[in-house]
Amino acid sequence: MQIIDTKKELKVVLDAARAEGKTIGLVPTMGALHEGHASLVSRSVKECDLTVVSVFVNPTQFNDKTDLENYPRTLDADCALLRELGTDVVFAPSVSEMYPEEDTRIFSYPPTDTVMEGAFRPGHFNGVCQIVSKLFYAVEPTRAYFGEKDFQQVAVIKAMVRDLKLNLEICPCPIVREKDGLALSSRNTLLTDSERKIALNISKYLFESKDFMKTHSLAETKDFVISNINAVEGLEVQYYDIVDGDTLQTVANWDDSVSVVGCITVFCGHRPVRLIDNVRYK
Ligand code: PAF
Repeated sequence: MQIIDTKKELKVVLDAARAEGKTIGLVPTMGALHEGHASLVSRSVKECDLTVVSVFVNPTQFNDKTDLENYPRTLDADCALLRELGTDVVFAPSVSEMYPEEDTRIFSYPPTDTVMEGAFRPGHFNGVCQIVSKLFYAVEPTRAYFGEKDFQQVAVIKAMVRDLKLNLEICPCPIVREKDGLALSSRNTLLTDSERKIALNISKYLFESKDFMKTHSLAETKDFVISNINAVEGLEVQYYDIVDGDTLQTVANWDDSVSVVGCITVFCGHRPVRLIDNVRYK
């Protein structure tokens, strides 16, 4: 496994692979890797001749400076895991390597990037598009793998790929959960044991709502999730939207769309830790 920190060196390695006709899989990450990331890497290793994993905490997608400073940075442990998984190249550039000058590009794909996370974290998806497009240009992957826990992020990146007419396949991968249902996230390490326990109510009520929806309207199901989670001391729903799985436009009735997903963000505990999750209804 090679660990590379410049685009120039990366290009030499990848051009050689392309010259041999190899397919390239890219797994973009911000490090602090867990089993969720491992599932993306394993899929890329299985489906592509060469797998590149980028590890880069992207400053332009954080709207909170403290959040950026506190973001866990664990490159040595990340590389040990990536080696085990059969990664070929770890690309771990510095901020100045990725942003030699300020990136002033604006990406806009409403409503995909303006609803939900887009409304509560202004500029977040613009930063995601800035870094992901830079990674796509640097790696020119055949396929790129993203976790569906960040359901909205996948939709925004798909919109960007269409807009920039990039020749690559976006491969969304299912959420990986702990045995008890908690969706894996780098932020879970910030939870105390008791916060982790109460956080389980998020997936619990999302799963229960899949049964509840069979006999109730969309509005009742939305209320079921929000009121049950808010009733748990230490949890506060920031938003719960039930949306079209492609456009992310809010859906009013179950029959309004063929693909329907519920996306939630919840504050957990005193700090608080902001947790996201989602459930597919159709
Ligand atoms: O999902 C993430 O970890 C990040 O948003 C990504 C896609 C690596 C871009 O920094």
